[in-house]
Amino acid sequence: MKILVVGSGGREHALCWKLAQNPMVEQILCAPGNGGTAQVGSNVAIKDDDIPALVALARNEQVDLVVAGPELPLVLGLANALEREGIPCFGPNAYAANLEGSKAFSKNVMADSGVPTAPFRVFDEFESAVAFIKEKGAPIVVKADGLAAGKGVIVAATEQEAIDAVQDMMVKKSFGSAGDRVVIEEALQGEEASFLAFCDGTNYALLPSSQDHKAVFEGDTGPNTGGMGAYSPAPILPEEKYAETAELCIKPILRHLAAKGEPFKGVLYAGLMYTDNGPSVLEYNVRFGDPECQPLLMRLETDLLEIMFACIDGKLDQIDVKSTPQTACGVVMAAKGYPGSYPKGMEITGLDDADAMDGVKVFQAGTKFEDNKTVTSGGRVLCVTALGDDLAAAQKKAYQAVEKVHFDNCYFRRDIADKGLKRLG
Ligand code: AMP
Ligand code: GLY
Repeated sequence: MKILVVGSGGREHALCWKLAQNPMVEQILCAPGNGGTAQVGSNVAIKDDDIPALVALARNEQVDLVVAGPELPLVLGLANALEREGIPCFGPNAYAANLEGSKAFSKNVMADSGVPTAPFRVFDEFESAVAFIKEKGAPIVVKADGLAAGKGVIVAATEQEAIDAVQDMMVKKSFGSAGDRVVIEEALQGEEASFLAFCDGTNYALLPSSQDHKAVFEGDTGPNTGGMGAYSPAPILPEEKYAETAELCIKPILRHLAAKGEPFKGVLYAGLMYTDNGPSVLEYNVRFGDPECQPLLMRLETDLLEIMFACIDGKLDQIDVKSTPQTACGVVMAAKGYPGSYPKGMEITGLDDADAMDGVKVFQAGTKFEDNKTVTSGGRVLCVTALGDDLAAAQKKAYQAVEKVHFDNCYFRRDIADKGLKRLG
């Protein structure tokens, strides 16, 4: 079998690594890929938003399955275009991908299907958005409707900050058309967790809970990033709560989309916040999280290819999706300066030493392999991921592995999983 994985992050390296464990998989292509995916398969220089070129590649190479890592190609209709060609795709169609592609759509679906979420209003006009902010006061949250590379959410501490955010989005058009419409909602407080499920349109199979670390600095301070590390399970969402949490935030969404004739197939990711009043959904993603994917796939015992085809064929109820009871912890090693500007091209050493450790895998993100060297090419460079019998053991091993890897201008948080350890007491 031949598979095409779309994307270029640590998540995509993990997807390629896991899919390659199925003996039926003969070849993996990754577009555009990175230094890690080049070791598992072959990279093809096509960007994740070039739908016609991705479809042509899948057709010409006669791939048996396309796996979409990031949201952008899904929102742009990759699954729809592949369906027209008769090529199986893991990931939802453009309508269902709007759960992530449009915050207004997503919030309206949550409201219609009874999913707990912060009270909100949608605005197409600057003046009425400002009037609403003045009426409600701060703190308040302003969200650009469309995709904004993870920068479209402003949790404003003051009215002025919220008004500035709306001005930035609607008047100055900082995010292009993604900011023509905004969602303004109540600011919630609490600890966050990620809850992901494989979905076949009707049935779902839950993955264990996980937790990302979005802020760049220790103690959850500094600007938000794509994620500086993740671990699974997250003690804030223990296994005995999975079923009821799915009833709350996975099942109603699947039912709603199926009733619209747009069944959701792929990974549905609920970003939850645990407030004093219980869990509330902050957002949906229509794909694996990065870096949550890395610890989750380290723990996944069931064959990933089998799960993906079961999702596509509507047969998820016929397989048992299992994860090891062990804990996984992934620490992101970044280039100093990220998420702002950062240097590139630093040589990375020690990757083989870290990978040789029992229960450790280094997933590469912003890397490329050239002249027989692996060098950095992005802000999030690697996610060093380790399995352990409990969270303390997984964290310890992950940091031992981190110590083996070196590149100039390296930065990583030293407190990944501390929040979970504190909760465990
Ligand atoms: P989103 O893309 O909607 O998840 O927003 C990104 C991040 O913004 C979340 O992970 C939260 O940390 C924060 N956030 C989003 N919505 C809210 C809210 N209503 N209250 C407080 N923080 C929020
Ligand atoms: N780790 C958060 C995300 O992938 O959106």
